[in-house]
Amino acid sequence: MIVVPKIRGFICTTAHPAGCAQHVAEQIAVVKNRGPVTHGPKKVLVIGASTGYGLASRIAAAFGSNAATIGVFFERPGEDGRTATAGWYNTAAFEKEAAAAGLYARSLNGDAFSDDMKAQVIAAIKEDLGQVDAVIYSLASPRRTHPKTGDIFKSVLKPVGEVFTNKNLNTTTGVVNEISIEPAQGDDVAQTIAVMGGEDWEMWIEALQSAGALAPGVQTVAYSYIGPEVTWPIYKNGTIGRAKEDLERVQRALDVRLAPLQGKAWVSVNKALVTQASSAIPVVPLYISLLYKVMKAKGTHEDCIEQMDRLFRDRLYNGQPQPDEAGRIRLDDWEMDPSVQQVVAQRWQDVTTENFGELGDFDGYQSSFLRLFGFGLSGVDYTADTTPEVAIPSIP
Ligand code: NAI
Repeated sequence: MIVVPKIRGFICTTAHPAGCAQHVAEQIAVVKNRGPVTHGPKKVLVIGASTGYGLASRIAAAFGSNAATIGVFFERPGEDGRTATAGWYNTAAFEKEAAAAGLYARSLNGDAFSDDMKAQVIAAIKEDLGQVDAVIYSLASPRRTHPKTGDIFKSVLKPVGEVFTNKNLNTTTGVVNEISIEPAQGDDVAQTIAVMGGEDWEMWIEALQSAGALAPGVQTVAYSYIGPEVTWPIYKNGTIGRAKEDLERVQRALDVRLAPLQGKAWVSVNKALVTQASSAIPVVPLYISLLYKVMKAKGTHEDCIEQMDRLFRDRLYNGQPQPDEAGRIRLDDWEMDPSVQQVVAQRWQDVTTENFGELGDFDGYQSSFLRLFGFGLSGVDYTADTTPEVAIPSIP
């Protein structure tokens, strides 16, 4: 079949296997070009390993530190006439490249929130690696089935307290309009915390530690976002921000729990980037488009792979994590640079549909979005007949 993008709002329902493979290859090249990370992790578990920040973490660990990796994710394989999800193709390509480089890689596809998946991962660690010395927690999900109660929680992206009205981008048409978002109601905050907060991260670490699957000196990291004031009502002070606060609560609890192993838990605050998760957040795509333009002009723009390479190379494994006053790692330092934020804030005031082409990086936004699904990569023949079924070597 000929695979073309089919975009529905903020998702693309198709993915290109060769394009996803090229996207993975480009990320590997970024890490390799920077040379080895001398004291990097050796045996790494990545939860949410197939796209975005989790995939980039897996690539940075494998190709920067020669780490063996176990990746967990929730993706759909291809079948007759229907492509797989991008994360499936990404992982197939990652495993192929890892094997060619002599690196161990094993992947498990299923619900990371479940007890069953935790047990499968622990069995895989015991069988193949003994223990892991790093656990990356990079899930982004709209829902979670609680493993103990069976309750189904749904996360929402809403302000807390009052209606939030601000500028918004239609990412298909480039129209800049206004959006009003109703505040959280009922138990929206609690539901969002149950999905995107820290409870599951804590459950993972507890399960791994009880099984003796964590090596002495283990480090675990979960990802968060803060951003500029213009996005605070929908992000930092919204329902998702409450969940991220909960992540910090768990980080402190895990520090205590891991102390006997001389281990350490971190929350890393990352840069706003186009991913499948972030494209669903209102207001944020307009901010990202303005931000990309300014950071590209300044020469400080990074994508997921540069961010995650910097996390391992310059923060976690060189003895200089540079935590902020709340103990968080700040990979959003270049994003939050006042000279960047001043320009973005001014352009936020000024931006309209008419001048958006000049003030924002709409091409950059759209091409980043398409690349997530393997479209628009150089060297890929998009006219070639393509088979949607691609195997992930470690998945039977
Ligand atoms: P993403 O959508 O690219 O990746 C999500 C990952 O979670 C995928 O591997 C997916 O398969 C996996 N997943 C989802 N539900 C699952 C389940 N039930 N079981 C197993 N795996 C499941 O998202 P992204 O953007 O990389 O987000 C990762 C983390 O980074 C999130 O905590 C997000 O809040 C955070 N973050 C994202 C930023 C951004 O701008 N994209 C900025 C700062 C932090």
